[in-house]
Amino acid sequence: MNHLTPELAENLLTIFISAMEDIFNSLPQKSSCWLKGKGIMYKYQGFWNIKDFLEGAILAQQIFKAQPSDVLVSSCPKTGTTWLKALVFAIVTRDKFDESTSPLLTSVPHECIPFLEKDLEQIQDNHKNSGIPLIATHLAYTSLPKSLIAANCKIVYIYRNVKDVIVSHYHFRRQIQKLSMEDAPFEEFFYDFCQGISCCGPYWDHILGYWKASQERPERILFLKYEDMKRDARNDVKMLAEFIGYPFTIEEEKAGTIENIIKLCSFENLSNLEVNKSGKHRPEEPISIENRIYFRKAKDGDWENYFTEEMKEKVDKLTHEQLRGTGLVLK
Ligand code: A3P
Repeated sequence: MNHLTPELAENLLTIFISAMEDIFNSLPQKSSCWLKGKGIMYKYQGFWNIKDFLEGAILAQQIFKAQPSDVLVSSCPKTGTTWLKALVFAIVTRDKFDESTSPLLTSVPHECIPFLEKDLEQIQDNHKNSGIPLIATHLAYTSLPKSLIAANCKIVYIYRNVKDVIVSHYHFRRQIQKLSMEDAPFEEFFYDFCQGISCCGPYWDHILGYWKASQERPERILFLKYEDMKRDARNDVKMLAEFIGYPFTIEEEKAGTIENIIKLCSFENLSNLEVNKSGKHRPEEPISIENRIYFRKAKDGDWENYFTEEMKEKVDKLTHEQLRGTGLVLK
């Protein structure tokens, strides 16, 4: 086998970049006022996203090698990802840290778990060094790197009431772009979302991909609902810990470990930490995200403050049509 000389590496990189360009030129595209500075969204393997993420996704599909102990934390944006990441991280690292030493106190949860579409190097390092086998993604089930399925990795997926996701997503994108509600009308976002044009959309297809997979491989894919987790966090955290192979012992249960983790990861606690009030996520990137915008209201039913009757009927009808016959109920 040839050694990878610097020239060969450079040639391979050129070939790779040109192949990427060919892929992007062939994809459906859409520009929108939501993407200032990031340009256009592309539809890749049935799902919309920005180029930056898709390049990372394509790279991960090509070269990522999963280990059987990897646990994938997956979601569509704005469905409770930040919360699920915090909980999974706290569960898995509870022998290393407690509520006064957890990295969750000084880093936004997104920095505690590397992101498949962006942090391949860190994931590789973690495989070698850290013993924390967590990986996060927003990729659709059908776009996951094959090695994650072949290695039979556990996957936890969270979803949320579509109407609250639309409102949450609207504010998130608006705040990233520093747009006022006048400059970025809710109606425009709403109608794009309903046509499936949102980051990682169509939302319904994203959920259905994981739902079907969880029906086929229930021992590998745990399907969690944001609203249920809010209603009975103890039950879901216990189930989550068991599912990913880090069950609580009777002693831990008696000592209140579950309650401590729930408190550490609660919206009230995380949103009031200094790092999440004034810190930035990926500060080195052209559009870094202020951590505070990951924490807005965390209330169920905020959609009622934004939806007209017509919008409500549209989403209900769409949801009914999309989920008919699947066995999945989305309130
Ligand atoms: P709202 O915009 O409705 O307030 P994601 O983490 O997938 O980006 O989702 C963001 C949503 O989860 C936001 O909803 C945010 O407020 C809420 N959220 C963030 N941290 C949370 C936590 N620890 N517990 C519950 N909800 C949380």
